[in-house]
Amino acid sequence: MLKGKHIIVGITGGIAAFKIATLVRLLIKRGAEVQVVMTPNAKEFITPVTLSALTGKPVVSEFFTANTGEWHSHVDLGLWADALVIAPATASTIGKMANGIADNMLVTTYLSAKAPVFIAPAMDLDMMAHPSTVRNIDLLRSYGNHIIEPAEGELASHLIGKGRMEEPENIVKVLDEFFSSSRPLSGKKILVTAGPTYERIDPVRFIGNFSTGKMGYALADAAARAGAEVTVISGPVSVSPSERSVKVIGVESACQMAKECERLFPETDIAIMCAAVADYAPAEFHETKMKRESRDTVTLELKRNPDIAATLGSMKKMNQKLVGFALETDHEDENALKKLHSKNLDMIVLNSLAVPGAGFATDTNKVTVFKADSSKIELPLMSKKDTAENIIRLLS
Ligand code: PMT
Repeated sequence: MLKGKHIIVGITGGIAAFKIATLVRLLIKRGAEVQVVMTPNAKEFITPVTLSALTGKPVVSEFFTANTGEWHSHVDLGLWADALVIAPATASTIGKMANGIADNMLVTTYLSAKAPVFIAPAMDLDMMAHPSTVRNIDLLRSYGNHIIEPAEGELASHLIGKGRMEEPENIVKVLDEFFSSSRPLSGKKILVTAGPTYERIDPVRFIGNFSTGKMGYALADAAARAGAEVTVISGPVSVSPSERSVKVIGVESACQMAKECERLFPETDIAIMCAAVADYAPAEFHETKMKRESRDTVTLELKRNPDIAATLGSMKKMNQKLVGFALETDHEDENALKKLHSKNLDMIVLNSLAVPGAGFATDTNKVTVFKADSSKIELPLMSKKDTAENIIRLLS
């Protein structure tokens, strides 16, 4: 589960820092890429040379390198990380993290990071039990950080009690369990189509629809959070993915979307067709702007576009899953089931324009999911983000 993961190990000035060489070695053995960030005090307990030799990367401790003036961006580091592990975490660093006191490289990196954070406190038993430490740890927990509780035992002071940093093997186990339980789609490649397609009439006009891409991008983000490698093939939209790992391929027309889908589908485990694809395009493209006619009506001849979902349905192998959407205004269940079977889908997500808060452009959706055996799951009205989480959970 840790293979290929970018892990920042943040070391603070506690006696347990000597155990971090083992932690780093175990993470690297499991295929993780490790970057060590140390507070100035941590260097009193373990040398940066040991850690950079183990990780193959210079340890970061200051905001810039004094002799070259090279700036170390805590923002870039924070964005690089899939997880941050602060071990050992002293009472002082815990207090700074809880209260946003960003006076060193480690705390600024923590404040910039979007990745999950794991904190392994280590200190004397009375410091651990002090109300300020207890309050700061509660605060950190309330921000969504994961506290790896210290064990009881003999401490550096020779007193016996709670405050020993959890052993490196157990810290690795916590990370392993986190990535395996929260990332059920790890190793899977997911393709999502999103947004509308534009079918050009002439250089200034097109046939389109009201899709904003919100539903498709919410699905892409949810799949990425579940650990999948996600590519969105997107029509023209102004939204973008929140998850940095999501790759976007922009297209304009149904034919361009079809071409990209057919190219990527053979390498895909699950394809989710959420785009509102135009069923028809102008039969002819006018190279120059069509002039305003003196007649009151104009007739445009339209030709049928490829049905992307149906094409992928015909290409589908046993180990692949294909999910469609159905946007209906009437006879909803009947029409959705017809599409599920005729396009050889494994699942179809029905949303109806007749339901307030569902469909195009809203931040919410209300969907009914039909599986290939026609079983039906109705989800209540909820945000598109939560709708996406539920759909992805059904695919995990
Ligand atoms: O983008 P938002 O503003 O958030 O709105 C979300 C949404 C309403 C667009 C989305 O939830 C949705 O319903 N998407 C599918 C819209 C649609 O085109 O439905 P359909 O019933 O016409 O098509 C059925 C399925 O076939 C869909 O999976 C569609 O992607 C696919 N299709 C349709 C036509 C075509 N030529 N090729 C296709 O692949």
